[in-house]
Amino acid sequence: METALRIKGLNKHFANGKHALRDIDLTVRRGEMVALIGASGSGKSTLLRHVAGLVTADAGSESLIEIDGRCVQRNGRISSDIRAVRAHVGFVFQQFNLVARLPVLMNVMVGLVHRMPWWRSLLRVFVAQERALALEALTRVGIADCHAQRASTLSGGQQQRAAIARTLVQGAKVVLADEPIASLDPESSRKVMEILARINREDRSTVIVSLHQVDIAVKYCPRVIALHQGKVVFDGPSATLTPALLRDLYGVQADEILAPAMAPNVPPQTAPQPAMAGWAAQTQVA
Ligand SMILES: Nc1ncnc2c1ncn2[C@@H]1O[C@H](COP(=O)(O)OP(=O)(O)OP(=O)(O)O)[C@@H](O)[C@H]1O
Ligand SMILES: [Mg+2]
Repeated sequence: METALRIKGLNKHFANGKHALRDIDLTVRRGEMVALIGASGSGKSTLLRHVAGLVTADAGSESLIEIDGRCVQRNGRISSDIRAVRAHVGFVFQQFNLVARLPVLMNVMVGLVHRMPWWRSLLRVFVAQERALALEALTRVGIADCHAQRASTLSGGQQQRAAIARTLVQGAKVVLADEPIASLDPESSRKVMEILARINREDRSTVIVSLHQVDIAVKYCPRVIALHQGKVVFDGPSATLTPALLRDLYGVQADEILAPAMAPNVPPQTAPQPAMAGWAAQTQVA
């Protein structure tokens, strides 16, 4: 099985002394859909930013991050090949990162700029075939009818779907999504997660998605990686992740992670303890 992501010996101290990532070793195989969970401040965004090559690991310690066998960074130094590596990595952010005043179609075509001559990308000159590709991607995410609207006029859920369409036209083999549903209502969240799951299934893209909601992580992602204070404290099949295990791993912080999955009016000590998979099946995401 091909390796989509390999992380070895990753440590990160920020300038203020914060040890944000501790001895991370991870391998993700091509075509996996993995959830990254953990309380606020546990290091989810920092880890994804390292994988994207936006932040460097501690210098002077041995570490390696590779995507599809190509080096992103080694021993705290970004690879000179980083642009080529990034061309195959799609990013989806909580705040969508679209250009608000540009039409949706144009925003999606931005995903093609790495394949274009520089002058065309600079002038934003797109040919008919590129427009067709972008329209096809918008159709896949269900918002083709919005293609001519300015991005700022779309709902949050539609903007996030446009951001995913951008990764589709990019032909991203690996999609990194940092809390893509944190700003969305439940119905939009469900649609966005279903689209991510569909591109994982249909295109065999590797999807790594950080989420606050354990129930959603379990529902959509066969594998869960849980971080606690910068350390991987669980890495395994989501079906084996129980509320009891999460309480063991997170102690008093467990409620922050479990909160969305808790049935209303059920005090934690009397809450039932089925596997999270069972909870996820019962939990209305929509
Ligand atoms: N540039 C920075 N300088 C100093 N500390 C930082 C920096 N970026 C992140 N941190 C710290 O690193 C830790 C991990 O932060 P990170 O944003 O990765 O957490 P997170 O799991 O994504 O949290 P959230 O769920 O709130 O998004 C936090 O303690 C944060 O304050
Ligand atoms: Mg974060």
